[in-house]
Amino acid sequence: MVCLGNICRSPMADGLLRRKVKEHDLNVLVDSAGTANYHIGSPPDHRMVEIATSRGTDIQDLRARQFSKIDFQDFDLIYVMDESNLTNVYRLASSEDERQKVRLILEDLYPKASMKVPDPYYGSMKDFMDVHDLLDEVTDVIIEKIKNGEIG
Ligand code: 4NP
Repeated sequence: MVCLGNICRSPMADGLLRRKVKEHDLNVLVDSAGTANYHIGSPPDHRMVEIATSRGTDIQDLRARQFSKIDFQDFDLIYVMDESNLTNVYRLASSEDERQKVRLILEDLYPKASMKVPDPYYGSMKDFMDVHDLLDEVTDVIIEKIKNGEIG
């Protein structure tokens, strides 16, 4: 799961998917990263932590890291939150195979939604709540696709 800072959207997506993978007893490695280096080593934004906790997902132990070329080797699928993340991740790909691993999360999984998971960083608590709810729906779709053998 990749966003810009790895402190709002991608840790939320990461935490939700990790929890659901565990609940469904699936053998899938989940992680997240940011394309920027601003927040390396930081915990998720306290507003995201607060909402995650209130909805039953613990993300407070996650720490931000920067996406790197090695992630193309370590992961089969790379979900990005918006077009700008997509551009930044594509820049680090060194083959067509690596590019094929990258998906805009909503385009691939939840076509009815607007195409991006909006960046809530300068927004309100409602914006953070909306990000949680969107990613909660999307991670349900990912779990179903893994269980059906469509991905993973
Ligand atoms: P994220 O949100 O990409 O969802 O983690 C942001 C976090 C920090 C900044 C921008 C977006 N920032 O500019 O520091």
